[in-house]
Amino acid sequence: MASGRADSCRVISVASTTRPRAVYPNSLMPSLSVYGAQWGDEGKGKIIDRLAIGADFVVRYQGGANAGHTVVVGDEKYVLHLIPSGILHPGKVNVVGNGVAVDPLKFLDEVSGLRERGVAVDGTNLRLSAGAHVIFAHHRRIDQLGERWLGDGKIGTTGRGIGPAYGDKARRSGLRVSDLLDADRCRERLGAALAEKNALFQAVHGEESMDLETELDRYISVGARLAEFVCDTGALVRAAYREGKQVLFEGAQGVMLDIDLGTYPYVTSSNTGPNGIPSGAAFPVGQVDQIVGIAKAYCTRVGEGPFPTEDHGEEGTAIRKAGNEFGATTGRPRRCGWFDAVAVRYASECHGTHGLVLTNLDVLSGFENLKVGVAYEQDGTVFDDYPAHLPSLEGVRPRLETLPGWDENIEGARTWEELPERARDYVEWLEEQIRIPIVMLSVGPERDQVIPRGLSL
Ligand code: IMP
Repeated sequence: MASGRADSCRVISVASTTRPRAVYPNSLMPSLSVYGAQWGDEGKGKIIDRLAIGADFVVRYQGGANAGHTVVVGDEKYVLHLIPSGILHPGKVNVVGNGVAVDPLKFLDEVSGLRERGVAVDGTNLRLSAGAHVIFAHHRRIDQLGERWLGDGKIGTTGRGIGPAYGDKARRSGLRVSDLLDADRCRERLGAALAEKNALFQAVHGEESMDLETELDRYISVGARLAEFVCDTGALVRAAYREGKQVLFEGAQGVMLDIDLGTYPYVTSSNTGPNGIPSGAAFPVGQVDQIVGIAKAYCTRVGEGPFPTEDHGEEGTAIRKAGNEFGATTGRPRRCGWFDAVAVRYASECHGTHGLVLTNLDVLSGFENLKVGVAYEQDGTVFDDYPAHLPSLEGVRPRLETLPGWDENIEGARTWEELPERARDYVEWLEEQIRIPIVMLSVGPERDQVIPRGLSL
């Protein structure tokens, strides 16, 4: 049962515990997995951009253009959807692994957009797996029509065709990037796929069918433009690791959206944490050396589905405003609420996480009180640990503890000592709740607005 802290804001000093603090110097970081420990949008883009400084390879292994990783460099803001966040650093190899669902039109748009802004992108610093599954226009349409079909029961997807493309992969009817490079094979497989999808469009959704020749024209020419990037990325990354290169795995979305571990069915269609690396990057599980989760100092979610610590009142609105919580991919306002220690502890335990990066701490400045979910309650039963066995989290209520907030603007803080005491207390108390060290803090969108606490850059 959860222990109550009704009257005070007891702070457990981290220094008083015997738990060792993890340290991650770059020189000891042959491979590092960085993943989202909440419902996505944890600020991974910025952290991965920073960590990319010490990496040779930055690898995406799951998800697709449903992700939106925002990186701010000076006055320039980049939102990357498919291309790994390391692309903004010269000399890094950025890899889109076989587990990513690739919309080739979006991939090429992103390449052109970066080039127009002066970022060098070519077949040497961007590699695309021949085995990655392709998201076609018909997948995007099915995604959107499927949501319409579900009505009130919709998932609230990004509409980018993710679920239908991974669905076809599991049904063994998908096409992979290598299929786009072979016109005959593309005709055969896309023809078979569209025949079935057209029956669905017409008979189920009462919509127009799609013309095979138009689609073939579009995608075969796209295949030719992709060719310079395509290779066996698994072999490339394994060889790099063998040669002592540093490999950074960039997770998209978050563990609570993981197809197996998340709040099913309100999830995305891939394994979002390090659990996706062996299959999605063809990289040995035992060679993922360090695992770091990322979580905001509060919590947000986009789309439908359970969110126990959501705040529907003024404070939720205040968090949205202070944190500018609108989707990078869809522009949708994000649902906002308090840090959910139950969910983050679950995410970190499932993945044997070594440390957590806590982002957007600056957003909490000015809140008189801060709440944190420390347990869930449903029909009189209290769950201290994430109740993954429940058919649904719908209807669970959080047990919230309250801590005092701070007024000071902390955007300029660069060291632990520069933070107000109450901010430090908040961080240390969260650390106790999640049972892993908080190894870095982020206090603003800029590259340099971080406070290292063990995770060096
Ligand atoms: P899908 O991935 O587009 O199928 O959407 C499934 C669920 O995951 C929806 O609730 C989306 O809002 C959510 N989702 C997908 N990608 C992201 C992301 O990058 N950040 C936050 N939520 C996401």
